[in-house]
Amino acid sequence: MKIILPGGSGQLGLVLARHFLRANHQVVILSRQTAPRKVLNMGEEVSPFSDSRVRMVAWDGKRVEAQWRDEIEGSDVVINLAGRSVNCRYHQKNRRLIMESRVDSARAVGQAITQCQSPPSVWLQSSTATIYSHRYDAANDEASGVIGGEEPDLEDTWKFSIDVAKAWEAAATEFNLPTTRQVLMRTAMVMSPDANGVFDVLTGLVKKFLGGRNGDGRQFVSWIHENDFVAAIDRLITDKTLEGPVNVASPNPLPNSDFMKGLRDANGVSFGLPASRWMLEIGARLMKTETELLLKSRRVVPGKLSAAGFEFQFPRWAEACKDLARKLATAKG
Ligand SMILES: NC(=O)c1ccc[n+]([C@@H]2O[C@H](COP(=O)([O-])OP(=O)(O)OC[C@H]3O[C@@H](n4cnc5c(N)ncnc54)[C@H](OP(=O)(O)O)[C@@H]3O)[C@@H](O)[C@H]2O)c1
Repeated sequence: MKIILPGGSGQLGLVLARHFLRANHQVVILSRQTAPRKVLNMGEEVSPFSDSRVRMVAWDGKRVEAQWRDEIEGSDVVINLAGRSVNCRYHQKNRRLIMESRVDSARAVGQAITQCQSPPSVWLQSSTATIYSHRYDAANDEASGVIGGEEPDLEDTWKFSIDVAKAWEAAATEFNLPTTRQVLMRTAMVMSPDANGVFDVLTGLVKKFLGGRNGDGRQFVSWIHENDFVAAIDRLITDKTLEGPVNVASPNPLPNSDFMKGLRDANGVSFGLPASRWMLEIGARLMKTETELLLKSRRVVPGKLSAAGFEFQFPRWAEACKDLARKLATAKG
């Protein structure tokens, strides 16, 4: 298959390109950079970004141009991953970039697909599990889940993320696509053993005895192991019954205190200093990020994937975490 990855130069692009190359697919990454940027540590494997079967094609993530539309023409699958990283302070300029990079790139991809004589059969569009409400009491699946934004205790940065997700999905669904099936991937945190990825960063904190619960530790963490992420993407590509919003998350989200304990256990660390809200706020300012990523409760389950019979290799955090910790240790030598 010929698979186009707009915004595929980042973390998920790496995970997917690696997977698609193993399966002998042809991968084209649309990037704003002319030369491939130095990317994550690949362990013993060759980086997909230096593999001749991966081509980098320029785009600006805003306007349709012939050079990248012609790549989509006649391709099989488009997986749009573009968006300014949310790992930053949500001040006005970053808010604008976070919002516009998602809305504009989704629109550009949609416009390009509508201009194709031979459009791809599937468009997988990134969205996020953050779209659901900040809740503890019940899990959100696609049918009965509550879209967030109206909760009384919602902090401003949390509401912003939900607003972005809604605008992102709205932009991607503006198009009439008679022959292209569209999926909005409401993805949870993807855990892979790549250097500088979220699992690596959390493991570093745990090893410094800073891996205690965050806040009161009751907030749910939704996550997915990279093996299940790529298998879910394969399923979304081939299963014609799956369309619209699809939660791409393990079936067992868990409270933050248990999530952090899993990380400590997998790394053989018996103690982790709990971090209260004010400590996290100071840490987030120093690390130029937001506490939202740690404190908002994301209790999201894969309703549609499970109903379609998708089976997770790593449905539970304890096993997923052990596997990732072992792989990360091997990659780091
Ligand atoms: N990683 C996760 O666990 C996770 C979970 C849920 C949702 N998501 C969403 O899935 C998508 C991919 O995630 P990721 O972790 O791979 O993100 P990432 O590492 O930040 O990569 C995203 C890519 O988007 C492009 N980009 C950045 N700023 C842009 C802008 N202003 N305009 C257009 N493109 C821009 C960049 O490519 P170039 O610089 O090469 O153009 C970058 O490589 C993101 O939209 C993210 O919000 C990720």
